[in-house]
Amino acid sequence: MANDILTTLNWLVEAGADEAVAEEPLNRLAAKPPPAAPRPAAPARAPAVRAPAPLLAGDAIGSAQAAAASATTLAELQAALEAYDGCALKQTATHTVFADGVAAGGILLIGEAPGRDEDRIGKPFVGRAGQLLDKMLAAVGLDRKTNAYITNVINWRPPDNRDPSPEEAAQCLPFLRRHIELADPGVIILLGAVAARHVVGVSDGIMKLRGRWMEYRVGDRMVPLMPTLHPAYLLRQPAHKKLAWRDLQAVREKMKSLGLPRMGDAV
Ligand code: URA
Repeated sequence: MANDILTTLNWLVEAGADEAVAEEPLNRLAAKPPPAAPRPAAPARAPAVRAPAPLLAGDAIGSAQAAAASATTLAELQAALEAYDGCALKQTATHTVFADGVAAGGILLIGEAPGRDEDRIGKPFVGRAGQLLDKMLAAVGLDRKTNAYITNVINWRPPDNRDPSPEEAAQCLPFLRRHIELADPGVIILLGAVAARHVVGVSDGIMKLRGRWMEYRVGDRMVPLMPTLHPAYLLRQPAHKKLAWRDLQAVREKMKSLGLPRMGDAV
């Protein structure tokens, strides 16, 4: 019995259901209780102080754009993101996950969204997928401690690791676009289809996109951009590691031709 419970709990945690949403368990399959009888009218009270109205979708994107545009350094952008309340994902997240690594090296990697470990620690790619990513980077002479910089499209963990909604992505994107400008990369690597969809606006499957150079405009420069497979996908499909390996070899050649990575200081 105890083993059954443990197995079920492990399975739920693996599936991302690792948070209690209420004090008491609720059987959502049980028959619904009858509707409550109407309550007697409440006695007159002093008018309550109004909570600030939640931002409407358009306002939330507009205020993200204004906040992101006002940042002139990565530190200012991080502060602006941490002060931004327009994305509902922030309410269920423990940390705002901004970035990790050394932007000055000129290699920027963009993933999808923080998971459980990233939310707990406050840095991108620190769980199992992150450990694989570190190995992939090491294979091409990169390392987040000295010359690679990592961020995500989404800065707060979506509950249960669900896909971010288009609204949530639209609220985070102004920060990501400014993030790319301020990081000023020489090469961009996109990890997975979600990053490709939001950064370059293509919804083709990652198998079709990966391994082909694209370009991303930063100011008046076109920066080479390589979509590749997400390390979490590679953990599930290890036979495809060889494809990511090929993509990273192409990145290595490109880095050589561009004199990358630049030498930099850790952020
Ligand atoms: N997957 C991502 O896309 N980003 C993270 O930070 C962790 C896992």
